[in-house]
Amino acid sequence: MVRIGILTVSDRAARGEYADLGGPAIADWLGRAITSPWEPVRRIIPDGVESVRAALIAMCDEDKVDLLLTTGGTGPSPRDCTPEATEAVIERLMPGFGEEMRRASLRDVPTAILSRQVAGLRGTCLIVNMPGKPSAVATCLNAIFAAVPYCLDLVGAGRIETNPAIIVEFRPK
Ligand code: MTE
Repeated sequence: MVRIGILTVSDRAARGEYADLGGPAIADWLGRAITSPWEPVRRIIPDGVESVRAALIAMCDEDKVDLLLTTGGTGPSPRDCTPEATEAVIERLMPGFGEEMRRASLRDVPTAILSRQVAGLRGTCLIVNMPGKPSAVATCLNAIFAAVPYCLDLVGAGRIETNPAIIVEFRPK
């Protein structure tokens, strides 16, 4: 069974002052897109390099998720440090994901250039930063997910199959 981590990074959502919108947006998109068996592993934590770093390590190494999607904390505000925490725990950068998410998002809003999203591999886990806004989450997942199943194949993580009505996975022959 493939395990997919969904990590919401938000001071206000972690304190319960604000409903977590990014996490449910990711879960909803994955629920529609993935046809093979999978289970979500959800956490909501405050912003901060140390808090995000510890959650990423726990979800990769203890929860053993195959794919880990973060939401929030990718902008330029002082408390936004999800990319720094991600860079601290990954062993290999996957720069194409951030490049493509910004390219796709820039078609919607000029402020997408403010996104500092990164992605990379820790062991057999692919970690990808998503923005906090639900509509931005969908734009980003639509932009990158065709390549995610094959990436997981190559690193030895679990197998994902997708619903072509939502996303057409690409596995080179
Ligand atoms: N991407 C899309 N598709 N749509 C958006 O509205 N907002 C941008 C950017 N990416 C946006 C987007 C803005 S204004 C910021 S500051 C960053 O995402 C930060 O997002 P986060 O801090 O919620 O992670």
